[in-house]
Amino acid sequence: MGNKVLEIINLRKEFRKNIAVDGVSFHLEEGEIVGLIGPNGAGKTTTIKCILGLLRKNSGEVLVDGFSNKVQESKYKLAYIPETPDIYPMLTVWEHLKFMALAYYLKDWEEEAEKILKRFDLLEKRNDLGRDLSKGMKQKVSICCALIHKPDVFLVDEPLVGLDPKAMRELKDAFKGLKQEGKSILVSTHMLDSAEGFCDRVIIMKKGKIITEGTIEELRERTHSDENSSLEDLFLEVTQDEK
Ligand SMILES: Nc1ncnc2c1ncn2[C@@H]1O[C@H](COP(=O)(O)OP(=O)(O)OP(=O)(O)O)[C@@H](O)[C@H]1O
Ligand SMILES: [Mg+2]
Repeated sequence: MGNKVLEIINLRKEFRKNIAVDGVSFHLEEGEIVGLIGPNGAGKTTTIKCILGLLRKNSGEVLVDGFSNKVQESKYKLAYIPETPDIYPMLTVWEHLKFMALAYYLKDWEEEAEKILKRFDLLEKRNDLGRDLSKGMKQKVSICCALIHKPDVFLVDEPLVGLDPKAMRELKDAFKGLKQEGKSILVSTHMLDSAEGFCDRVIIMKKGKIITEGTIEELRERTHSDENSSLEDLFLEVTQDEK
């Protein structure tokens, strides 16, 4: 099978007395789209931020292509689309892409940038400042920034929230295109209908732990559910509290 491009080993993150991520281990292979799902507060965003090094983990290891995530090359291999779009208010849409191109030493990026902006209906807004964009447009800019530098692994936190239907479709198509190029995507989402369509397998977290993972067929088998059960059915089944 494919290479392990991302490996998380026994990751633990505490916020004072609150254990947000409690010994989580999983990996992503080349060309895989994996859904990270779980109820609010399960620890999905914290896991993603620890992978990126945006939060300091208490213990555990994060390996990107076999190397620690602290190594500079590892950082170049990761792209992040955050839960809340974090764009620069005083940069234009185009300047955001230019900024990415400079930061990641991209060459001949302009044509690709135009294509990406067109795809997400942002071409007309290319000279608008970040602060003047709608919430969904800001989200699209952060997606375009991740797409332009095409690293090996995409970490995507709730990307579909706030997007219009066309942008949602474009993003899902972009995921499929990246997968075909051998890129890997970890995507956290509550939109289980969509996740069912584009994820190769899912990891279900609750209260900081992984409670189950696998393909939808594997989850059906494990929960003795019939072949018509949706990811939503399976999710509700495995995450319900014991009576
Ligand atoms: N900066 C912080 N300080 C203290 N506690 C935090 C902080 N960030 C997250 N937490 C706590 O860590 C736990 C996991 O939060 P996290 O944001 O990772 O959940 P999530 O799975 O992304 O949830 P959601 O689906 O709502 O986005 C929660 O109990 C939350 O209160
Ligand atoms: Mg979250």
